[in-house]
Amino acid sequence: MGSAADRSTATYPVDTDANSTFEALFQPGFIAGIELRSRVLMAPMEKNLCTSTGVVTQRYIDYLVARARHEVGLLRVEATYVDPVGKGRPFQLGAQADHVLPELERMVAAVHDAGGRLSLELAHCGRQSSSQISGFQPVAPSPVPCEASGGWMPRELTVTEIAAIVERFAAAAQRIEKAGVDIVEIHGASGYLLNAFLSPYTNLREDEYGGSFENRMRFPLEVVDAIRGAVSVPVTYRLDAEECVPGGLTVADTAPFAAELERHGIAMIDAAAGTYEAILATQPPMEVPPGSLLEIGAAIKAAVESIPVATTGRLGALEVAEDAVARGVVDFVSIARGLHADPALLTKAKEGRIREARRCIACAECVAFLSEKETAAYCAINPAAIREAEFEPRPAVEARRVLVVGAGPAGMEAARVAALRGHEVTVCEREERVGGRVRQGELAPGRRDFGESVRFLARELDRLEVPVRLGTEVTAGLVAELGPDVVLLATGATQPEPKPIAGLDQEHVTDAFTFLRRLEADPDAARGEGPVAVLGGNWVGCVVTSILLDAGRKVALIETRDELAYDFSMQPAMPMMDLLANHPDVTVHLRTTVEAIGAGEVETWAAATDQAQSIPAAEVIVVPALEANPTLRDELGDAAPEVHMLGDCVKPRKLQDAILEGAEVALRI
Ligand SMILES: Cc1cc2nc3c(=O)[nH]c(=O)nc-3n(C[C@H](O)[C@H](O)[C@H](O)COP(=O)(O)O)c2cc1C
Repeated sequence: MGSAADRSTATYPVDTDANSTFEALFQPGFIAGIELRSRVLMAPMEKNLCTSTGVVTQRYIDYLVARARHEVGLLRVEATYVDPVGKGRPFQLGAQADHVLPELERMVAAVHDAGGRLSLELAHCGRQSSSQISGFQPVAPSPVPCEASGGWMPRELTVTEIAAIVERFAAAAQRIEKAGVDIVEIHGASGYLLNAFLSPYTNLREDEYGGSFENRMRFPLEVVDAIRGAVSVPVTYRLDAEECVPGGLTVADTAPFAAELERHGIAMIDAAAGTYEAILATQPPMEVPPGSLLEIGAAIKAAVESIPVATTGRLGALEVAEDAVARGVVDFVSIARGLHADPALLTKAKEGRIREARRCIACAECVAFLSEKETAAYCAINPAAIREAEFEPRPAVEARRVLVVGAGPAGMEAARVAALRGHEVTVCEREERVGGRVRQGELAPGRRDFGESVRFLARELDRLEVPVRLGTEVTAGLVAELGPDVVLLATGATQPEPKPIAGLDQEHVTDAFTFLRRLEADPDAARGEGPVAVLGGNWVGCVVTSILLDAGRKVALIETRDELAYDFSMQPAMPMMDLLANHPDVTVHLRTTVEAIGAGEVETWAAATDQAQSIPAAEVIVVPALEANPTLRDELGDAAPEVHMLGDCVKPRKLQDAILEGAEVALRI
């Protein structure tokens, strides 16, 4: 039996020297004389994890301590509001008043005790805050609303109000210095208030705070000066080096501003990009290769005399980060999601164990948790992120024989956690490869990193010496033969017969999962002659369409609802939606039903126009709905020992649900 990892697809797509110890990243670094133990900075990341008045919680402290233990040079916590009017999340961290102090002090002390250093990023969300969250009308340099944060019309700040906000920044800086932070960071990025004043896109003022570059710099520099005057710890700046919106800031504008920041005593600049209106520049998705912002980091570094410069953008791909630091492109790298996905990423890297790391797949579900579900910013692939205490795999009271049926994400995560707890685990998988439907999800162009979620699990099962029996169909008989104490059923969803449509049973008609399975075996399977009709615009339908487009086919994507990818989160779907909106070879037919499938066309009816239409289709791919799969549970009946079902066999859902359920069940047995 070959190892599970060997039989899954290859390693993380970045060229990995599995034994590298990433020497450049583990040189000490300096910010205004403060020595940091590595060149890796944890990038600020809102987690929506405080109380409604901005007070740190124990879960937050646990989160930071878990990362402080592992070689991070500086933990830059999150955008921390200095003014209730500029609050951006219901449970955002606050430095707006003294009541936050006792818990902040406890947080700083806990991070220091764990060997870490810490900064808070003082922020005012400006036009990107919402009345719904803050209870106030947003304020901004000019009344330019931001559709991406709800389209609230902001009120133009008066000069007196600007001065009061400068004071608020200084007071918050003093407060957090009192709590013991090592460094104060200023949030000048993401389209927030300081960024909005600098930008000609959002600053339309005609007074001394608008118009010329000098005037637009005035407010951010006043904040810098006020904070520098209020505290004695170093002050760093997160700069939006490229806004990536039409008419917005580019490095041509922000490089001279960076030089100005240095003259005003800023001790380090982190070059970021994007605003809420260009969110994929801020949080590059898996479709964008790691290191996409290195060029702007280099441009900012070239603009300053001697202060260190950092940049960000999927640099949890440490291979890329190492190269950037070794070549002196930037002095530090800022990693947000990479440390979210694995708090011990850096220790594993330093010890030459990078293959043991759970690598961020840049799926952006953390953002979807935050912005779409309005929960804490959980991680799709690491269920323990933000739940460190609950998900610690403590040794089982009694080691039991655990049979896991199915080596998809739910089964493999359950097997991993059960093995870590000391259970004797065996995994049986019906197919010849592990990974389940994730292997099909990664076939979409640009989405290969999606599969890293299960490649990690496969590597871990190897490392933990969990036997994985591939090509093994589990029956009640096999369960009786193996005699486990616990059976975990993670057999995946089942595919029911498609809804009857006239003409379904023709040779040129297939279903999406058969198509994807063929493609796994033969990368050229999507090629062919003539247009294709894809019937069903959920995520799987979109994936299939993108694969066909990539193979040079013309596609008609037909969906009865009025939107595509309705079963997927919004930000994670953005690159796919862009593709489908702009690719010349796809036509999307929403609110359209298929009445019949002919030999070379499909007959449709569009609700919007009340029109029947014949759409040419040399091939037709039907996207079936998936269903729960209780078959083996029913077959095992009462004869089986303790049985738990997990993942898609309970109810077809997303990767994160499968992994979460796998971990939860394994922690209970
Ligand atoms: C959930 C989430 C929350 C974020 N919150 C902040 C924030 O509070 N302040 C900030 O400057 N950037 C924030 N960012 C941007 C990150 O700091 C980082 O620049 C970006 O995610 C790219 O780095 P990464 O690829 O390592 O995640 C956030 C990103 C994510 C994914």
